Amino acid sequence: MSLIQSCHALEILDSRGNPTLKVTVRTADGAVGSAAVPSGASTGEHEAVELRDGDPKRYGGKGVLKAIAHVNGPLNKLVQGQSVFEQKAIDCAMIELDGTPNKSHLGANAILGVSLAVAHAAAHARKEPLYRYLGGSEATSLPCPMMNILNGGVHADNGLDFQEFLIRPIGASSLKEAIRWGAEIFHVLKTILKQKGLSTTVGDEGGFAPHVGSHEEALDLICQAIQAAGFRPKTDVTIALDPAASEFYAHGLYGKRTTEQQIAYLAELVRNYPIDSIEDGLAQNDWKGWAELTRKMGKEIQLIGDDLFVTNVQFLQKGIEQHVANAILIKVNQIGTLTETVETIALAKKHHYKTIISHRSGETEDTTIADLAVAYQTGQIKTGSLCRSERTAKYNRLLEIERELGNRATFM
Ligand code: PGA
Ligand code: ZN
Repeated sequence: MSLIQSCHALEILDSRGNPTLKVTVRTADGAVGSAAVPSGASTGEHEAVELRDGDPKRYGGKGVLKAIAHVNGPLNKLVQGQSVFEQKAIDCAMIELDGTPNKSHLGANAILGVSLAVAHAAAHARKEPLYRYLGGSEATSLPCPMMNILNGGVHADNGLDFQEFLIRPIGASSLKEAIRWGAEIFHVLKTILKQKGLSTTVGDEGGFAPHVGSHEEALDLICQAIQAAGFRPKTDVTIALDPAASEFYAHGLYGKRTTEQQIAYLAELVRNYPIDSIEDGLAQNDWKGWAELTRKMGKEIQLIGDDLFVTNVQFLQKGIEQHVANAILIKVNQIGTLTETVETIALAKKHHYKTIISHRSGETEDTTIADLAVAYQTGQIKTGSLCRSERTAKYNRLLEIERELGNRATFM
C-alpha cells in the first residue's frame, strides 16, 4: 500500500543564494522521495503565489519559514496515512485545504514541494525511475533542449532588453549529440567574446552576459559561434528568443516600440536570423497584440506563451479560443501541483500546442523536470546554458535516462 508516514521541509538555498524549500516524503514501508522548489525572477502576474516570510531580519525578507511550517504542520497532517500512489487525490486535497485560487494561503512553494516529493516517493516505492513511474513504458522520447547561451533582461545587468538568446540543436540525432553540440557552441562563443574583448561572465541561467550594443549584435555573435563550431545555422542549429516582454512593457510601449512596431521588429529579426521560436514576444496582458502576432507569425515559427499562460488551463483555454500562441512553456511552480501541470500539458497537446518544460532562473540541484519531460513527452526542454551545475544537472539526468532507455530511446 505504501502509506505516507511523514512529509517534512528544510530551508535550503537556490542558485541565486535565496532560500527555498526541500521537501522529503517518507512512507511506512521505507520509501523516500525529495524535491526542491525553484523560483523565478521574471514571474508572470498570474502565477501561483510563492510564499515568503517578509521578515527583514532574515534573508532580506526572502525566508521561507512560513511555507516550511505549512509543510511540517497542516500539509503533513493532511497527507499522513494516504497512499503515496494517490497523486491526484493528494494534490486536490492540498488545493482544497489552501482554499484560494492562487495558493496564497499555504504557498505554492509549500504545496509544490509536497506534490513533487510524493511523486518521487511513489516512484521509489515502485522501484522505478520517476519518468517510468509517471509515464509508463511508452515514455521513451527525449526532449530537444533549448539552451540559453546569452542572457539579458532581469537575468543579467548588461542593458539588453531581451532576456534569453537560446540555441536549438534541431539537426542532432540524439540527446547526447544535442548536448555536445550545445556545449561546443557555448565554448566557441566564449572564445569569440574573449577575442572581441567582451566579458565572459555568466548570468543567472549560465549564458554569457556581455555588454553588447543591441539584440542584433548578440544574434550576430551567436550565428558566428554556431558556424565556427562547425554547424549550419537553420539546418543543424536554430535560434530561439525569450524577450520576456512583460518586463520592459510599460504605458503601452515595448521600450520605445508600440505593439505593432514590436511585432514588426520581431518579424524583421526572424527574416534576418535563423530564429524559429519566440517566447513572450509580447507582454502578458497584451492579448490583442498576441492575437495579431500569432496571425502574422504563428504559421511560420513557434510562439510560446510563458507569462501569458502561467501553466494554467484557464489562460491556455483562453489562448486556444482566441488563437493566441502555438506553444506553451510548462513551469511546475507557476501552477503549484504535479496534477495541474499534467492537466495543462494534456490540454495543450489536445489542441496541438507544442509543450516545453522549463526550469526557473532560480534553481537547485533538483532534476525532476528532466524526468517530467520524458514522462509526459513534452518534446522540448528549456533548462539553461551548458554551465552552472543547477542547469547541467538536468542535462546530465537526461543523459542518464537516454542511456537507461538504450535503443528504445527516441529523440524529440
Ligand atoms: P524566470 O525566467 O524563471 O526568471 O521567470 C524564465 C523565463 O522567463 O522563461
Ligand atoms: Zn520566459
